[in-house]
Amino acid sequence: MRPLKFAFIGLGQGAAGTIPALAAMPEVDLVAGCDINPAMREGFTSRYAGTKGHASIEELCRDQNVEAVWVATPNRFHCEHAIAAMRAGKHVIVEKPMAITLEEADRMVEVSQKEGVVLLAGHTRSLSIWNRAMRRIIVSGALGAVRAIHIWAYTDWMIRPRTADELDPKQGGGIVFRQGPHQIDTLRLLGGGMLRSVRGMTGRWLEARPVPGYFTAFMEFTDGTVGTIMHNGYGYFVMGSLYPWVVEKRDYDDAKRAQLRRELIHGGRNEDEEKSEFRVGGKNDPAKSAAQYAAVPYPWKPFDLGPVEVACERGIMRPSQWGLEIGDDNGSRDLDLRYLQRPENDPSGGLSLAIVEELHRAVVQGKRAFHTAEWGRATLEAVLAVIRSAEEHREIVLERQVAMPDDYDADMPIGELLAK
Ligand SMILES: NC(=O)c1ccc[n+]([C@@H]2O[C@H](COP(=O)([O-])OP(=O)(O)OC[C@H]3O[C@@H](n4cnc5c(N)ncnc54)[C@H](O)[C@@H]3O)[C@@H](O)[C@H]2O)c1
Repeated sequence: MRPLKFAFIGLGQGAAGTIPALAAMPEVDLVAGCDINPAMREGFTSRYAGTKGHASIEELCRDQNVEAVWVATPNRFHCEHAIAAMRAGKHVIVEKPMAITLEEADRMVEVSQKEGVVLLAGHTRSLSIWNRAMRRIIVSGALGAVRAIHIWAYTDWMIRPRTADELDPKQGGGIVFRQGPHQIDTLRLLGGGMLRSVRGMTGRWLEARPVPGYFTAFMEFTDGTVGTIMHNGYGYFVMGSLYPWVVEKRDYDDAKRAQLRRELIHGGRNEDEEKSEFRVGGKNDPAKSAAQYAAVPYPWKPFDLGPVEVACERGIMRPSQWGLEIGDDNGSRDLDLRYLQRPENDPSGGLSLAIVEELHRAVVQGKRAFHTAEWGRATLEAVLAVIRSAEEHREIVLERQVAMPDDYDADMPIGELLAK
């Protein structure tokens, strides 16, 4: 199996959490990194021996040694950088949100088709083993048809350090753009992909943060399946505290969250400096603490997605510490899914590994891609519909939805377990 020659553009906080897992994958040959900030390039090239540091997207595109690019620059650049890389013949994984307008997503779909390269959009929590296993159980029919899905998250997303663009909705800032894709991708995966309509509401409850920090939405699929999503990022309560096995190393404790919120209200925070601590080489660089909070096998945690409850005609499923709790006509049981985890230590809980695995299969092994540009566009359409529905106080009917084919993850060995 030959590895893909891989490069990263945007070597910030998101990249710092993703690159260590990728670098350990046999499917990946990490050859380059690109960032306009020399300190980020220096941190990257000194940690990953033999890699090149590029100062611009143009320079990266000229690098003939790069076959695939992971775009992790700020949201407003996703379209521009993905298109530049595709036009240079490179395959792309683009961070969520895929883009900030549907027009941008349309162009990305068009270019991926025209250039004949693979664009994967959907580095979201839908890719966790727990959600993918629930999808396989739904497709197997063991619990009957899926009828209702509910996802709810309480996090401290709004009080974590933020750059100016993350607080500007016109640049894809705020919690709906940044966290909506996790819940909507998961909902769409489990419900089959084809949403009919969205009725959403957003909330801006903290004057010091002029972007939505809360959203909720009711979504209906074309077959009548329903879903609700909710994310409250104000940090008065975080979901991990409901689960005794979850010890968050990176998140702030109660007292720290209250202090950070007070500082946001009264001034006194240097958020640029705080955020840089989460980037490569910083005090909170995930590569330094990864072993503490994401040792393999990793237990389920709510992360920024929250618990997912899936009601089917003849049973119900939800993640448990090591797998899934399933209630059906035979009673309640726990399916241990640890055997499905890859050996690489991935602080994201396996998402980064899963999307790269999908890219490698598509590019090197010639298999079908599933989190395509069209899939990502459909998720973005629903993200934008939550925002628009909230502004216009009405239901938004969607037009660019695509289905998740039943053969996604068809080789996941879960059937035998279910039969037990
Ligand atoms: N913060 C996270 O934990 C996290 C996790 C997963 C995904 N993401 C995604 O990653 C993306 C970036 O977020 P972040 O939090 O890492 O931000 P960040 O500010 O920490 O990192 C962005 C990096 O991009 C670089 N950059 C900016 N413009 C550039 C350009 N024109 N060319 C090359 N490099 C450029 C910046 O110098 C910076 O190093 C977002 O789309 C976000 O949704 C973030």
